[in-house]
Amino acid sequence: MRLRYVPGQYEYLKKCEKVIMEPEKLGYKLNKAFKNGAPIHVELGCGKGRFLRENAVNNPHINYFGFEKSIKVAYRCAKATFEKDPPNYFIVLASGDILKEVFEEGSIDRIYLNFPDPWPKASHAKRRLTHKNFLDVYWAVLSEKGEIHFKTDNNDLFEYSLEQFNTDKWEFVIVTRDLHKSIYTEGNIMTEYEEKFVSEGKKINKLIVRKKNA
Ligand SMILES: C[S@@+](CC[C@H](N)C(=O)[O-])C[C@H]1O[C@@H](n2cnc3c(N)ncnc32)[C@H](O)[C@@H]1O
Repeated sequence: MRLRYVPGQYEYLKKCEKVIMEPEKLGYKLNKAFKNGAPIHVELGCGKGRFLRENAVNNPHINYFGFEKSIKVAYRCAKATFEKDPPNYFIVLASGDILKEVFEEGSIDRIYLNFPDPWPKASHAKRRLTHKNFLDVYWAVLSEKGEIHFKTDNNDLFEYSLEQFNTDKWEFVIVTRDLHKSIYTEGNIMTEYEEKFVSEGKKINKLIVRKKNA
């Protein structure tokens, strides 16, 4: 769905204390944004942010960053009202490809990729968040046993991603092609897109990989 431009959205985001804008220009590492040394989990393409906030509420001992590259979506995310607004998350207006510039190596414990854009054309493969170039960035910023949790309704993207992860750098922890009928549903937090796809009867693929260390 095409989102409407809202006048003043940039200014709103700039003033919002939950939002970090253009972190690559700050020359500052985001892992220092929280002063408590708690584990860091990052969601790339957090959309309207329900998954991000619900996780933050459920896990007050973890610090969350939700990256969203679209200003229109980040605005909706920042504006969304929830029953509880926990202190342990930031919305970051930036693309996920700058992770290495804005986090210290080995400083992230988990990366979530929830329903990323599939970019079906072969000529756009480099834009997929599970392209090898992205995986190299994730490997650098993840901690020793850091994990990637990936969900998608798109079967072609899922098969492509399995191939990308199938190297000696990653260990498969969970692979399911029907999450909601699998043993892995417990504790699953649905994203906005997931809820829509599930209501349409679509199957959800899920993959968890862990970083392998030599
Ligand atoms: C299909 S939506 C899914 C949103 C949400 N994760 C969900 O499941 O409801 C993909 C979102 O990722 C954002 N996005 C795409 N590529 C990105 C990137 N490289 N870095 C950060 N956000 C990205 C898009 O702007 C969009 O909001």
